[in-house]
Amino acid sequence: MAELNVDNRTVFTNDNLDVLRGINSECIDLIYLDPPFNPGRQWQAPLDSSAAGAVFDDVWALDDMKAEWVDQIEASDPAVWAVVTAAGRAYGGSMQAYLTFICVRLFEMHRVLKQTGSLYLHCDPTASHYLKSLLDTIFGPHCFRNEVIWHYRGGALTGARNVYPRKHDTLLFYSRGSQWTFHQPREVDISEQMLSRWGRYLEDDGRTVLYGSIKHERAEEARSRRRVLRTFGREPRDDDVAFEVNPSLVRSVWTDIPEVRNNPRYKESVGYPTQKPLVLLERIIEASTNAGDVVLDPFCGCATACIAAEKLERQWIGIDISNLAWDLVNRRMTETPGVGLFRGHHRVDHPIRTDQASAGVSPDIRETLYDVQDGKCVGCGDQFRMRNLELDHITPRSKGGRHSDDNLQLLCGWCNRTKGNRDMNYLRVRLREVED
Ligand SMILES: C[S@@+](CC[C@H](N)C(=O)[O-])C[C@H]1O[C@@H](n2cnc3c(N)ncnc32)[C@H](O)[C@@H]1O
Ligand SMILES: [Zn+2]
Repeated sequence: MAELNVDNRTVFTNDNLDVLRGINSECIDLIYLDPPFNPGRQWQAPLDSSAAGAVFDDVWALDDMKAEWVDQIEASDPAVWAVVTAAGRAYGGSMQAYLTFICVRLFEMHRVLKQTGSLYLHCDPTASHYLKSLLDTIFGPHCFRNEVIWHYRGGALTGARNVYPRKHDTLLFYSRGSQWTFHQPREVDISEQMLSRWGRYLEDDGRTVLYGSIKHERAEEARSRRRVLRTFGREPRDDDVAFEVNPSLVRSVWTDIPEVRNNPRYKESVGYPTQKPLVLLERIIEASTNAGDVVLDPFCGCATACIAAEKLERQWIGIDISNLAWDLVNRRMTETPGVGLFRGHHRVDHPIRTDQASAGVSPDIRETLYDVQDGKCVGCGDQFRMRNLELDHITPRSKGGRHSDDNLQLLCGWCNRTKGNRDMNYLRVRLREVED
């Protein structure tokens, strides 16, 4: 396992692909990602895409798929490319472009996760099934742990009148390997707001009892007062039991976490259009890491995951292409109770891997290989035009092969698909069978 080559408490203002590619392998314990995607709402395209600033649905065009990404996916794992193109056929080019964007980043996330690490991908039902197919292919279906439904409390009613109003997000939870860190969480039983109004004591069996005066004007308290009047025929007293809470194990449907986005009722709301609640991130981080572990959020937005990690004494790295992330993390850290003086690092570059001799692929690798191979496919030996030859990892990435010049070759489409996720010996045997 390599050493982490990024300082704790670093926010990168950069494209996360460049940053992820610079992080050493197997040194992150938890990745939470909440990538931009929600057709019909004002989510932005990546700032470096041709349509930065426009609404998502109009902007994820096939032109946004960089040729380099397509090459990398095809070469790394034809099965993954098959999933991406199948989604394109089912939904349209915008989904194919979107999945291509996510896919090259997921390859890196998978690589940087420790064997005991986990990844949570936060998405909504528009793309969750395509993203799950992608994750099944990259991580392996045996590494799928949960589909968590976050059925948020509150939240504005949006959408058409002739459908059920939306009320949930989906979190896809995968482990990197067969053993992973997990601490079974219990439901958030009482909000801070309630605690400030009522006293509380814990029963021996884990139940929480809230007691105290219910003589306030708020609607729910007026309701409690009426209930006491009706049930006992008297006014409520200061030591009356207001609630009894028996915290149960958190199952895969989370109904106890409110939506805080754009809601001034919650102190943590900073007006970031896609802000996620701190408690949601705290639950994930507490469940899937130990104190001191490293949490990475490659689409950190207003840095909710970073704040939650800091509160819980984990190390953290945030990446966002927007400048806002660094300002927000500074502001929120100073305002978050229990965090205190914040000394973080802001970087606009990307890290350089220190766990390999030579990393990266030359920009003209196709031309170089075409020359070296005399325009022939390394498998069948037939001559092709350059555009009909595909980049292939000689040792597949899933078997530890590097994405670097010395592990690349050009194969024709037939040879590349036949080789699939295997090594050259397999292809040679298959070619001999076909020729016989
Ligand atoms: C849905 S928001 C994340 C919100 C975050 N979970 C929070 O609680 O604030 C997605 C974020 O991804 C960022 N983003 C989009 N493309 C990116 C890229 N290529 N690299 C890094 N960040 C990117 C956007 O700037 C946006 O802040
Ligand atoms: Zn061939």
